[in-house]
Amino acid sequence: MKLAVLGACGGIGQTLSLLLRTNELIDELVLYDVVDPVGVATDLSHIPTRQKVRHFCALTKTDESQLRMALQGANVVVIPAGIPRKPGMSRDDLFNINASIVQQLVRVYGETCPEAFLAIISNPVNSTVPIAAEQLRSQNCFRPERVFGITTLDSLRLEQFLGQLTGAWDLRGQVYTVGGHSGETIVPILGKWRKRLSSAEIQDLVHRVRYAGDEVVQAKQGKGSATLSMAAAANRFLCGILRAICRGDTVDEVAFVNVSRLKTDDCFVQKIMHKVEFFGVPISIGPEGVAKVKCLGSLSAEEKEAISHSVPALSAQIAKGTRFVKASK
Ligand code: NAD
Ligand code: LMR
Repeated sequence: MKLAVLGACGGIGQTLSLLLRTNELIDELVLYDVVDPVGVATDLSHIPTRQKVRHFCALTKTDESQLRMALQGANVVVIPAGIPRKPGMSRDDLFNINASIVQQLVRVYGETCPEAFLAIISNPVNSTVPIAAEQLRSQNCFRPERVFGITTLDSLRLEQFLGQLTGAWDLRGQVYTVGGHSGETIVPILGKWRKRLSSAEIQDLVHRVRYAGDEVVQAKQGKGSATLSMAAAANRFLCGILRAICRGDTVDEVAFVNVSRLKTDDCFVQKIMHKVEFFGVPISIGPEGVAKVKCLGSLSAEEKEAISHSVPALSAQIAKGTRFVKASK
């Protein structure tokens, strides 16, 4: 099992690599960055595990040979490469820089290891995942069941903030978010917990989850956005993927995926899947990738309304990503 982290020297990249370093399912952990990851790799290599750690760095601005070597034979590729927000910026403000970074990395992934599971962290996720999809389509190697935008951090936040409110912990799977990864496209689904909260509490909770990224950006005062909690979120997601590939388990996760050809038994989700090409949904993942979209169960009128409301904004951000790749051809 070879897992490659592209953008390994960053705030997320380093912390995530640390968490992955002790994962027994990984044989080879590969660190790639445009900043030399030799220090990070040497540091990690002193942690006693049977894993091999390798590192690659672009030799020049146009060099892709090192990236190719990093990706050769990879089974899982995770991309936290790109710039983070500063106070006052939206995730969409990162588009101009991060779109090209993601497109280039994904193009080389498509040329080198298109069968690998691909998980994208770089923002704006609502556009970078469609960029990846369109780029891979142009190379005739898009595997929609293996390309994911990681939105797990929104669910982690929901679990944590709900836990603070109710005193209940281990809420994993009981509550999660669907939709996208920005402001009102983030839709918290509260399940049975809805009944235990007042409408004011629900409103505050939903708002806090949607804008929790801003909380971190402001607290870091210009020094970046969430890195530690994001690394924990990505590690949770990747541990599931690794179990699915290595052990043949079917794992339940939530991710932002291409929903157009996926199956679901949930009529409401089916309707949404006809309106928008990519959506964050609870999914079952097996060794071949996404197997199906899980049912959302009973939703409140507000949750249904919030999901429908998220579609136009999401569609615009998806179209922006798709247009970017088409215009570059
Ligand atoms: P960072 O600046 O600390 O690290 C980014 C790393 O990417 C740097 O080491 C940089 O050298 C590297 N990089 C830049 N261009 C590259 C390229 N072409 N190839 C390889 N590496 C390259 O940023 P960070 O805090 O780690 O955040 C990274 C991204 O993740 C940002 O876009 C941020 O908005 C996003 N993010 C997403 C979520 C989410 O929920 N999906 C959460 C937090 C942050
Ligand atoms: C987050 O939700 O913390 C990330 O998307 C980073 C950001 O820019 O808010």
